[in-house]
Amino acid sequence: MKKLIAITALTLLASGAALAQQDAKTLANGICSACHGPEGHSVSPVFPRLAGQQPAYTVLQLQAFRGHLRGDPNAQAYMWGMASQLSDATINALADYYAAQKPVHEAVDDPALVAEGEKIYKNGIPAQGVPACASCHGPNAEGQAAFPRLAGQHMEYLVAQLHGFQSGLRSNAPIMLAVVRTLSPDQIKAAAAYAASR
Ligand code: HEC
Ligand code: HEC
Repeated sequence: MKKLIAITALTLLASGAALAQQDAKTLANGICSACHGPEGHSVSPVFPRLAGQQPAYTVLQLQAFRGHLRGDPNAQAYMWGMASQLSDATINALADYYAAQKPVHEAVDDPALVAEGEKIYKNGIPAQGVPACASCHGPNAEGQAAFPRLAGQHMEYLVAQLHGFQSGLRSNAPIMLAVVRTLSPDQIKAAAAYAASR
């Protein structure tokens, strides 16, 4: 009897996860793709690419939209409503779905800008107290757990987010506020160009 109950509970759990997985795929293809593109390959830089994103980061962002913690104007306008009905199980499954999609390449046609950005990305700017981006986002901007993938993201989206951290519009990210505090607009552009083009 005990064994039967355990098996039933396991089956229910498994079908719950399978259901969330199915939900996530239906949502991704039917709803999220309208802005983020099929398989998370969005076209407009207003909408970040989700393909290949670190699943732990995606989970944290969807929870932050749902909890109204990530509150820059585009987050409020587009994502608060989207995330409001998502359960934790569906959020996890959506994050896994997007992590499994192949990232794209972002071409940045400005070698001088990319070279300037490479220095900031790899070494930081010690004189301004800026740490190396690579120390958290990884040598190829592939990200790691809560540190997002930046490689293959729209450069313009990355620039907008860096300004959002600096101005406090995206205020739920104290680590990034500390990182960008002293960066000039040109330095922001260069770092974003290098990271996006990895
Ligand atoms: C109507 C357009 C729209 C739809 C539909 C939409 N999103 Fe978004 N999403 C956005 C915008 C715009 C942003 C960027 C917000 C910002 O600039 O802060 C965003 C940001 C995100 C982010 C943060 C990405 C990052 O790199 O930080 C995630 C994750 C996300 N959306 C997931 C989803 C999922 C999952 C769905 C479907 C359930 C979805 N979105 C549906 C417009 C949309
Ligand atoms: C100490 C670790 C750390 C360092 C160093 C760091 N970052 Fe980040 N970065 C983070 C974390 C954590 C987040 C997620 C913020 C959040 O909680 O929303 C993030 C988010 C970002 C985002 C937003 C991505 C998105 O999809 O919305 C950009 C852009 C970014 N970082 C660029 C940079 C650049 C450029 C540098 C170097 C100048 C840098 N980061 C250095 C930890 C770091």
